[in-house]
Amino acid sequence: MKIEFIDLKKQYQSLKNELDGAIARVLDKGIFVLGEEVENFSREFARFCGAKHCIAVASGTDALYLSLKALGVGKGDEVITAPNSFVATAMAISLTEAKPVFIDINPLTYNIDAAKIEEKITPKTKAIIPVHLYGQPADMDEVFEIASKYNLKILEDACQAHGAEYKNKKTGTLGDIAAFSFGPPKPLGAYGDGGAVVTNDDALAEKVSIYKNYGAPKRDNYLLVGINSRLDALQAAILKVKLKYLDKWNEMRRNNAKLYDRYLEGVAEITRPMILSHNRSAFHLYVVRARNRDSLAEYLKTKQIPALIHYPRPIHLQSGYAALGYKKSDFPVTERAAEEILSLPIFPELLENEIGYIAENIKRFYGL
Ligand SMILES: Cc1ncc(COP(=O)(O)O)c(C=O)c1O
Repeated sequence: MKIEFIDLKKQYQSLKNELDGAIARVLDKGIFVLGEEVENFSREFARFCGAKHCIAVASGTDALYLSLKALGVGKGDEVITAPNSFVATAMAISLTEAKPVFIDINPLTYNIDAAKIEEKITPKTKAIIPVHLYGQPADMDEVFEIASKYNLKILEDACQAHGAEYKNKKTGTLGDIAAFSFGPPKPLGAYGDGGAVVTNDDALAEKVSIYKNYGAPKRDNYLLVGINSRLDALQAAILKVKLKYLDKWNEMRRNNAKLYDRYLEGVAEITRPMILSHNRSAFHLYVVRARNRDSLAEYLKTKQIPALIHYPRPIHLQSGYAALGYKKSDFPVTERAAEEILSLPIFPELLENEIGYIAENIKRFYGL
């Protein structure tokens, strides 16, 4: 049996007629940037999140960057986030010329350890970026409490958590502003790059809209030096089709997580993901801790089972971020996780017998 880490072809095949129709419609209309397709998708994604505004942009990285710019973050400011994330979280902060300030993670959920935030707040702190890592919402009540106390803004990095819920509220509505990525493997993925900023705040939405459009609220009127960041019409049309299935796909992902949990129960060498009872994870990734992680991953590879590491080297130990002055042992929980975590395939179309095969090979590796 050969397993894919994610099989996007299967998803396309299951929606081929609808997707081909949407793509043909865009080509027939001949409007490829901005326009009705992007407006329609943006409206529907805002509605899906339960938010007032969605501004479609070119990537999740842009969504983070534009959100920070709208919040007024810039040179001399500090923004708090976790070092166990995709590098784009910290990169977006650095692009604004503010400084990323890292906080270690909770060893059970891998999300930012909210209890450690307060001690890192300085007069320069402007915002907190909780990352809903692997699809599980961060501890938003605790983050909110600290943000209120110190008058900080909250930018959700929801790039891996479309449709996930925290206390029955969808991601995108849990802070002041939120960033989503529509990169192909994401729970809601385009056929290329894409992203969105979601917010209930009219003023922030307007700032993002202007900033992402060359700094222009309308044609030939450049209020400020902005950037060009657009979701194109083809991607918007594709995403609008796929959005209808997102809840169903997330349910399939959660179901696959349950299957893994069942098949891996009693394997002491594996620590399964812990989803807090008030959370519904989008299960972008199913991340376990594994004894002899690297040897297990090698063994699985020989059985045609791809397993990846998200992320093998934390951001504070990346050479591009050396100027921040962090060193090994600064974030022991993150660093230990980086040595032990392993992401097993969990896309919606993954079959039960494939999960059984993966679990069986994990057990065989440990001699069970
Ligand atoms: C947590 C997180 N933040 C930000 C991003 C950046 O999104 P994009 O790749 O669309 O720029 C990603 C994408 O992988 C991500 O996983």
